[in-house]
Amino acid sequence: SKAPPVKLVEVGPRDGLQNEPNPISLATKLELIEKLAKAGLTTIEAGSFVSPKWVPQMDHSSEILEHLLQKPPTAPNPLTFSFLAPNIKGLNNAFNVLAKNPTSFVASGGGDDGSPQPTTSKPAVEIAVFAAGTESFSQKNLNCSIETSLQRFREVIQAAKETHALRVRAYISVVLGCPFEGYDVDPHRIARIATDLLEMGADEIALGDTTGMGTAPRTKELLTCLGQAGVRTEDVAMHFHDTYGQALVNTAVALEHGIRTFDCSVGGLGGCPYSPGATGNVATEDMVYFMETLGMDTGVDLDAVVDVGAWITKEIGKENASTVGKAVLGA
Ligand code: HMG
Ligand code: MG
Repeated sequence: SKAPPVKLVEVGPRDGLQNEPNPISLATKLELIEKLAKAGLTTIEAGSFVSPKWVPQMDHSSEILEHLLQKPPTAPNPLTFSFLAPNIKGLNNAFNVLAKNPTSFVASGGGDDGSPQPTTSKPAVEIAVFAAGTESFSQKNLNCSIETSLQRFREVIQAAKETHALRVRAYISVVLGCPFEGYDVDPHRIARIATDLLEMGADEIALGDTTGMGTAPRTKELLTCLGQAGVRTEDVAMHFHDTYGQALVNTAVALEHGIRTFDCSVGGLGGCPYSPGATGNVATEDMVYFMETLGMDTGVDLDAVVDVGAWITKEIGKENASTVGKAVLGA
């Protein structure tokens, strides 16, 4: 089957759950990932190898990775599971699981040819590093400066590629607004961080509107600035949080700019622990519906993902934040 023209990256199991105050069981997390895969999501951010003192909810990540390798979900398409790793310590925790299961995954990247295309029933594994677009957010989220974080990511990217030929996604957070510095985020600084990360070998830059403060004109300005710095649209993914309800408007701007990879979270779950007041990512249901209205194939079954959103929000006692999900269910 040919690749869908729009690639959706499901971040619900990571971004969606990381900020939940009550512990969510490993079984629920695995069931969520399995249901999402069954609904047609092919790239799923499944966990985060960060300090459990900083983000306790992500403490199951080793078990999640191990389970996904040993009992991969049945899915209509080849799967890629992505995990955050802020430093070598986190990467090594992922490597420990990979080393124990060396034949249970396929190489996801290392090359320059865009999206991974695993051709077997074995999943691909991807690593994500995460830089910040402002010094204050870098300190709050990573406890270090932007420059120090980039030095760490250089090592992480290199090791991920050399040791297991893993594809690496590189986030840049607060690109359109910072909880501590407001709207004053310089797009030229974002472009410089992006080109640094690409030069280090990152396969994709995910632009994070962490606070949802992004607007249509500023999205356009940022993407134009990145383009002028030589960043190719095929290397860029957009990661919109929907705090101000602008995520789909900004998605339309990014689509018009040629971007074809978009992050979303089932049920609109999510928020960043170090971004006070930020709510969830744009809901997967809303994103799939929006792409369908444009005649763009996502490979995702809308009704199935609506059911997943209703199930997980009930399971963890949250309101379903997907407008489309609620409309489809008549709720
Ligand atoms: P630190 O305290 O500076 O780390 O935190 P350290 O290197 O000084 O180590 C302190 C302790 O943490 C040591 O343990 C280390 O072993 C341990 P101790 O000796 O005290 O027992 N440690 C680790 N343990 C497990 N895994 C690790 C790890 N590293 C050190 N990887 C650190 C630095 C980066 C660890 C910390 O700041 C951290 O974990 N930050 C993560 C914050 C986070 O997860 N934020 C949310 C994800 S980003 C996001 O949501 C935005 C995004 O969605 C995009 C967007 O919306 O914009 C991606
Ligand atoms: Mg996020």
